[in-house]
Amino acid sequence: MSVSDTKLPVSGGAEKRAYVRAMFSAIAPRYDLLNHVISFNLDRLWRRRTVRLLGWERAPGGIFLDQCAGTLDLAVALARQDRFTGSVIGADFVMPMLRLGRHKSPQVVPLNADALVLPFPDEVFDGATVGFGVRNLTDLGQGFRETARVLKPGARYVVLELTTPPNQPMRGMYLLYFRHLLPRIGRMVSKHKNAYSWLPASVKVFPEPDVLSALMEASGFEQVGYDLLLGGACAIHVGTKPLRS
Ligand SMILES: C[S@@+](CC[C@H](N)C(=O)[O-])C[C@H]1O[C@@H](n2cnc3c(N)ncnc32)[C@H](O)[C@@H]1O
Repeated sequence: MSVSDTKLPVSGGAEKRAYVRAMFSAIAPRYDLLNHVISFNLDRLWRRRTVRLLGWERAPGGIFLDQCAGTLDLAVALARQDRFTGSVIGADFVMPMLRLGRHKSPQVVPLNADALVLPFPDEVFDGATVGFGVRNLTDLGQGFRETARVLKPGARYVVLELTTPPNQPMRGMYLLYFRHLLPRIGRMVSKHKNAYSWLPASVKVFPEPDVLSALMEASGFEQVGYDLLLGGACAIHVGTKPLRS
């Protein structure tokens, strides 16, 4: 499929999967730079907060999964924690993204894998994260169930994702920036026709925080809660895989 098609297949299926793979392959070389520019560097802060909510301190030498890991910045944020002696598998299905991050930390292992069909046995990971990734999945419930399957009982799953601020005036300012300015900046820097139209389009159809919490609960997590950041421009959901009774 051509990456310059103007119709954006946000609703799912094979077309969305192919679009997402082609788009991230195309923008990979500019991805890190654009992330920092369009978020005013807040992406770094949000990844660090995601790591803090993971509870990795309970298994500092453990093995953790970062899904939709891209250029591995979230996996690296965990690996660089003082006292973290474990390893992080950074899984993504776009090799050009992983290749750009593979030298960032010796404790991070890049792996070409689809988040919907993870190549791991049950209950192997001490925790899992995903940053700005679940919005791109063709089947969110399947992604959550797969994560629950590979986590050890009691392990946490932390989901960092963009959302739309619920209240004015933040909502208005955000929509103005997100729908009009961001796609232009993205187009200029990435030279990709519509990659940065994908971002607002996919956030628009993404479930609101309460709905996402309910889906996490229905997919195998308990004690699900979330924090809203920057007036609701970003949400971090945390769920725990139940202990066996
Ligand atoms: C916006 S990037 C996020 C990268 C990184 N997590 C970060 O914090 O910057 C989304 C990533 O999700 C990956 N992705 C989307 N769908 C996927 C799937 N089904 N399986 C694995 N990776 C997927 C894309 O290839 C892309 O690298």
